[in-house]
Amino acid sequence: MPSLDRPDPVIMNHVLAEHSDLFQLVSRAKTAFADTGRPLAKRREFAVATIESLRAHLHEHFTQEEQGGFLEEAVTRIPRLGHRMEEILKQHPALLAELDRLTAALADSRLIEADWLKIGRQFAAFVDHLQAHERSENAVVQEGYNEDLGLGDD
Ligand SMILES: [Fe+2]
Ligand SMILES: [Fe+2]
Repeated sequence: MPSLDRPDPVIMNHVLAEHSDLFQLVSRAKTAFADTGRPLAKRREFAVATIESLRAHLHEHFTQEEQGGFLEEAVTRIPRLGHRMEEILKQHPALLAELDRLTAALADSRLIEADWLKIGRQFAAFVDHLQAHERSENAVVQEGYNEDLGLGDD
């Protein structure tokens, strides 16, 4: 049980490190869709592999957050952040479902070049959603610790 009377920068750093690991995987998947030169079948294969590995990592990350890791810790310190955190955690299934739809679309063997571009745009939209999600988590954690230190706005 961590001490509640003193903010822990280690926890904050861990959240940030986890999020930066995720974005390594996101960048790799982005390069998959930037490829327009290789045969479509090869590109599909690589895109599916990168999305699957991103999904596995993301699922693990979400589970850790939901099972009361760092985010819960921030809310324990500042209970009024609880509602916002709940709203953020509710986004997890939708984010995973977005990735599943992309994998399913890529599995279609009748895929043509126009579909590939469309899936690429859908992946870019997913990245925006994930980034917004992680930013709001970082903000809640940051706010929790700042307020604990007496640096909050109210
Ligand atoms: Fe999350
Ligand atoms: Fe997260």
